[in-house]
Amino acid sequence: MKTQQQNMPSSPLLPLTILTLTLLPLTLGANAQPCSEAFLKLAEQKNISDCKRLRTLGAEFAWKLHGNGSENSTVVDVLFGAALNTAQGWIGWGVNPGRRPEMVGTKAIIAVKRSDEKWRVNTYNITKEIRNGCNLLPSEIGIVSNMSVEHDGDNLHTMMYVRLNLSSEAYNVTKLNHVWQVGYDIEGWHPLGHPKTLRNVDSTEVINLTDSNGRGTGQYRSYLRSIHGVLNIIGWGTLLPIGIIIARYFRVFPFKCDPLWFNLHIGFQLTGFLVGTTGWAIGLSLGHSSRYYTFRDHRTYGILIFTFSTIQMLAFRLKPKLTDDYRKYWNMYHHFLGYGLLAIIFINIFKGIRILEGGDAWKWGYVADLAFLGAVAFGLEVYTWIHFFMLKQQQKQKNETKNSQDQQPPKQNMFA
Ligand code: HEM
Ligand SMILES: *[C@@H]1O[C@H](CO)[C@@H](O)[C@H](O)[C@H]1NC(C)=O
Ligand SMILES: *[C@@H]1O[C@H](CO)[C@@H](O)[C@H](O)[C@H]1NC(C)=O
Ligand SMILES: *[C@@H]1O[C@H](CO)[C@@H](O)[C@H](O)[C@H]1NC(C)=O
Ligand SMILES: *[C@@H]1O[C@H](CO)[C@@H](O)[C@H](O)[C@H]1NC(C)=O
Ligand SMILES: *[C@@H]1O[C@H](CO)[C@@H](O)[C@H](O)[C@H]1NC(C)=O
Ligand SMILES: *[C@@H]1O[C@H](CO)[C@@H](O)[C@H](O)[C@H]1NC(C)=O
Ligand SMILES: *[C@@H]1O[C@H](CO)[C@@H](O)[C@H](O)[C@H]1NC(C)=O
Ligand SMILES: *[C@@H]1O[C@H](CO)[C@@H](O)[C@H](O)[C@H]1NC(C)=O
Repeated sequence: MKTQQQNMPSSPLLPLTILTLTLLPLTLGANAQPCSEAFLKLAEQKNISDCKRLRTLGAEFAWKLHGNGSENSTVVDVLFGAALNTAQGWIGWGVNPGRRPEMVGTKAIIAVKRSDEKWRVNTYNITKEIRNGCNLLPSEIGIVSNMSVEHDGDNLHTMMYVRLNLSSEAYNVTKLNHVWQVGYDIEGWHPLGHPKTLRNVDSTEVINLTDSNGRGTGQYRSYLRSIHGVLNIIGWGTLLPIGIIIARYFRVFPFKCDPLWFNLHIGFQLTGFLVGTTGWAIGLSLGHSSRYYTFRDHRTYGILIFTFSTIQMLAFRLKPKLTDDYRKYWNMYHHFLGYGLLAIIFINIFKGIRILEGGDAWKWGYVADLAFLGAVAFGLEVYTWIHFFMLKQQQKQKNETKNSQDQQPPKQNMFA
């Protein structure tokens, strides 16, 4: 085993990363389901044929263009529905004639639900004062010619129907900025602010209404976020723990694979560090470019993880020689920091998954990943102890029968 020359094992990890990145769009596209039956039925009644589910908030969107968008103005029929399971609240949809699909500048249609099950729909001009906390009052927005609240038979699903007349000067229906939102607080008939989770800030899109699939763009932030998550899960959350398992069980005891363990350990830690750092950098830039919200704990833990693992990487360069006295202390410190780092990494990955609200796929995916690593570690741990006691037993028997002159107990510092 000693003679075996092993190169840095980063080559098998590359396919793993590529595989994950190719699978990623699949998970992201998983919500490209058809609209619900109740929604389609109502759309049909309104003579609206094109329908799509929006990305967040359980929203559905159906539309019909009258004309081909090349005249001076285009009439569009829209049906919008979103999940509102509380006794009161509001659902809103709107178009933004500005440069980007964002809340400020949106001409919105909002349906407000009171706890007595009564609904009222109105139009609103959303200015930046609203974002800063001013009351949102109804106002003319000049593009709506007809609007109504619609229910299906069971009253479970609430939708609003809107007929718009969009001037081609301000709106281009092949790349229309639209936003949607759900809020749970009202005062009288006035909608109050909505939650600020990712679902609520990811509810924007640029849509091509002349395309019957309503292809949307302008979601690169949420793609980046998923890539950030996958890279961090692979880098910090999987490769680093594997490297630690290798160091713990293959360095001295129960398996002594020198120098293979060291090369593997370094290979996994280095690859994990590089992949994780890439994900971390994407996360930092996401956090930096989000003007309005921060996830403080997640960010702080992320910075700690990067700092400590950088120290761990640099520590290799400052490592004392095997023979040095304080090599023992260096080992203790390196291992202590390593296990602490693992704990923060696991916590932060689950924090990130909670923020992402990506559904159970992320959570259980990572739980399965950890369960596998945990099972391997547990198996090796049990094996270590059995092996340890068996060796001790043998030693004892040897000593009893032979009472030999040279009594060196096997040196297995399991916890070094
Ligand atoms: C009722 C009062 C409202 C308040 C106080 C409010 C406040 C906010 C705040 C503070 C943000 C954080 C991001 C930002 O500032 O841009 C935000 C984001 C957002 N809001 Fe509102 N909002 C209100 C109503 C609405 C309505 C009626 C809609 C849509 C019909 C909407 C859609 C959005 C969207 C799509 C975002 C994320 C995209 C972006 O940042 O522009 N909001 N809102
Ligand atoms: C529904 O749309 C079709 C074509 O788009 C049109 O011929 C028909 O008259 C419309 N029906 C109603 C009830 O508006
Ligand atoms: C759109 O419709 C107008 C009138 O209905 C017609 O003159 C024009 O050629 C159409 N344009 C396209 C690109 O179909
Ligand atoms: C459309 O707009 C153009 C230029 O803005 C104008 O010349 C034309 O008369 C308008 N057509 C209609 C039908 O209003
Ligand atoms: C909406 O508000 C903006 C900003 O105050 C203003 O410029 C715009 O004219 C308003 N639009 C309507 C239709 O009232
Ligand atoms: C507007 O909606 C009302 C009620 O649904 C309907 O009676 C009316 O015909 C609609 N007007 C137009 C122009 O579609
Ligand atoms: C849409 O609005 C334009 C100008 O604002 C107007 O000339 C046109 O007649 C309107 N179309 C419909 C169908 O109401
Ligand atoms: C809308 O945008 C498309 C693509 O950018 C462009 O080709 C088209 O001329 C625009 N239409 C109008 C009415 O501005
Ligand atoms: C919108 O969709 C139509 C039909 O699929 C396509 O021809 C057109 O190029 C698209 N426009 C944009 C701006 O994506």
